[in-house]
Amino acid sequence: MSRKNLTIGLFGFGCVGYGLYEVLHKTPGLQTTIKKICVKNPEKQRPISAGNFTFDKNAILSDPEINVVVELIDDADAAFEIVSEAMKKGKAIVSANKKMIAEHFQELLELQQEFGVPLLYEAACCASIPIIRNLEEYYDTDLLQSFEGIVNGSTNYILSKTFAEGLSYRSALEQAQENGYVETDPTLDIQGTDAKYKLLLLLVHAFGQIVKPEQIFNFGIDRISDLDLKFAKENGYKIKMVAQAFKNEDQTVSCFVLPKFVKPGDKLFGVDDVFNGLITQNNFSDTQFFVGKGAGAFPTASAVLSDLSALTYDYKYEYKKLNQNKRLPLNNEFKMEVFISSKEASTTIISTFFERVLGAYRGEEESYIRGVIKFQQLQKLLHHRPCVSIILFEVVPELESFSKQHRNAQPYFLPVS
Ligand SMILES: NC(=O)c1ccc[n+]([C@@H]2O[C@H](COP(=O)([O-])OP(=O)(O)OC[C@H]3O[C@@H](n4cnc5c(N)ncnc54)[C@H](OP(=O)(O)O)[C@@H]3O)[C@@H](O)[C@H]2O)c1
Repeated sequence: MSRKNLTIGLFGFGCVGYGLYEVLHKTPGLQTTIKKICVKNPEKQRPISAGNFTFDKNAILSDPEINVVVELIDDADAAFEIVSEAMKKGKAIVSANKKMIAEHFQELLELQQEFGVPLLYEAACCASIPIIRNLEEYYDTDLLQSFEGIVNGSTNYILSKTFAEGLSYRSALEQAQENGYVETDPTLDIQGTDAKYKLLLLLVHAFGQIVKPEQIFNFGIDRISDLDLKFAKENGYKIKMVAQAFKNEDQTVSCFVLPKFVKPGDKLFGVDDVFNGLITQNNFSDTQFFVGKGAGAFPTASAVLSDLSALTYDYKYEYKKLNQNKRLPLNNEFKMEVFISSKEASTTIISTFFERVLGAYRGEEESYIRGVIKFQQLQKLLHHRPCVSIILFEVVPELESFSKQHRNAQPYFLPVS
């Protein structure tokens, strides 16, 4: 099969855009030319000659020679305008913009179908890990039961530095920003919103489920307290922010983004710094574990490069799971074992939300409570107590299947210090 030549119009020349420029120059086998680069700020110094740049999106969108638009900008609204106009003009798209894709998934799907153009976005989810194409091509819906992983490199970097080097949250964030790992708006990373966008993309390709971002619960790392860190360190745990989705027996799917205690021996325990890791649970093949860099110029550009390479062979997502089975509805009726800390000296009110309390600590200015809670109750609790910190131990789908040891355990209460 002969490969197509690609004439690229590139939007964005920041961390990933410049990374892609470099990576393409080091990959001569791929017959691609960047014809024009559109950026925003005319005052900015550029590492390559000014003749490569334009500030007018139409210089790319109206150029009939350009058959591929690579969109690597940090503005999701502008990106959606650019991408939808380019698709209407029959141009193939590669994008790393999870916010844009997650917020407009249905419209972008319809544009792909109406104009017969591919939109590829491997870099938008776990950067260098080729997870979208694996979910799309390898797993049939019946084979895949669940996935769980660290899908945000910058928060993993921050948490790793906090645990390994004892860095303060603020300095770890600054280091992550210096390395180009953090979104222009860092709250997207820290509050788990970026992870939620990625979870949304994974749900489409894993289970054929299209949801809106507001349907997915996300809780980030910004409330992690000293008490949480102390508890983790004393028990030999690390805290990781995970995105998780699993199929239930009634053919529904449950999902969320939450910080989680991981124990030595857990696959995610060793996934540190800017790495991402994703565990899939499958019928017959048991678990599989994907790991790779989840942010940064070259790792992200490598996924964009792979999409460009796929385009030279006319590859497009067929969204097999969307067509394979009826849509699996979202289900919020599950239970989880969680650790909730707060600046309140008493755990009395918070404990009323729990189905079973397994332990608690009450200090003079802070407290924690550990136990089993219904997911819907957890959301109600957050409504009443928006400042608590929540860390997951594990999902407990059926109380009956919860370990006997836990069922018989008497709650322990540490004395007021
Ligand atoms: N950084 C990562 O590790 C990473 C990983 C995975 C995915 N991503 C995604 O990749 C995309 C780019 O991220 P980045 O880190 O490379 O961002 P960045 O370093 O902040 O660069 C953003 C670029 O977009 C340009 N830009 C902004 N608005 C524009 C507009 N309306 N028209 C044309 N150009 C515009 C900026 O122009 P100026 O140069 O003129 O300011 C800049 O060159 C984002 O969607 C991000 O979520 C990033």
